[in-house]
Amino acid sequence: MKHLLGISDLTADQITKILDTATHFKEVINRPIKKVPSLRDITIANVFFENSTRTRLSFELAQKRLSADVINFAASNSSVKKGETLVDTVNNILAMKVDMIVMRHASVGAPHFLAKHVNAQIVNAGDGTHEHPTQALLDCFSIREKLGEIAGKKIAIIGDILHSRVALSDILAFKKLGAEVMLCSPPTLVPKHAIEAWGVKVTHNLQETLEWCDVANVLRIQLERQQIKYFPSLREYSIYFGINKQMLDNLNKEIVLMHPGPINRGVELSADAADSGHSIILDQVENGVAVRMAVLYLLAGGE
Ligand code: CP
Repeated sequence: MKHLLGISDLTADQITKILDTATHFKEVINRPIKKVPSLRDITIANVFFENSTRTRLSFELAQKRLSADVINFAASNSSVKKGETLVDTVNNILAMKVDMIVMRHASVGAPHFLAKHVNAQIVNAGDGTHEHPTQALLDCFSIREKLGEIAGKKIAIIGDILHSRVALSDILAFKKLGAEVMLCSPPTLVPKHAIEAWGVKVTHNLQETLEWCDVANVLRIQLERQQIKYFPSLREYSIYFGINKQMLDNLNKEIVLMHPGPINRGVELSADAADSGHSIILDQVENGVAVRMAVLYLLAGGE
């Protein structure tokens, strides 16, 4: 594969190959010397048109652990503010002998457009409400690490499905690897075509969802993408769809709690749930570096 634009382009075997490669890189990043020379001839630009903490830093660290040369571009302090187009911006970066572009953009399809119009490998680090493939890969890696396998597991995705790029990439990846997927949200925050198009169950009952699932993957309410009100108030959302530690303890079973971050503490998750023994949220962040190393290594031609 030349690019990584979405989970929709990957087969189950390709996903498994990335996860297996990431297992090797997780061992590497836990060594005293965390660096390997695999990408020492490659230059990568991280081109971010939207805010990020985890994804941008995780890609940069993955690139440095692989010995790539790295440059970082943030649209907010660039000549984009003077009217330069996306293609001109990226072509100017490529003129500096850059080989690969990791891009986050607020517009759906921006990395797919770029892949058609510039001569470089493109990795999608999140395009609007569409896909976030490396988040789904690190989520799969984290579930596999915790539960042994994904096939046959019951995974619930709870929260703002409508505005989430993580939701679509996760659903595609979990289904390809043989999991059962249930979505839980207020009726206004789940796309109406979801059940038929994605082959998932949909419910609006949080307690029923928690009793059903092995993994609860909780998503943030994305107020910045909501132009209209989808529910009366955050307080009311939290009463019906917020998860606290007591709710998880009362299930009397092992349940894995995940969240891609950033967390709205006190809205979708209480602080005691986010920091509880059920949570693998910081493991997800650690695994993100290994998974992104695997993606970059394989795209650069590694075996
Ligand atoms: N999970 C995630 O994409 O986080 P950031 O927006 O901080 O990169």
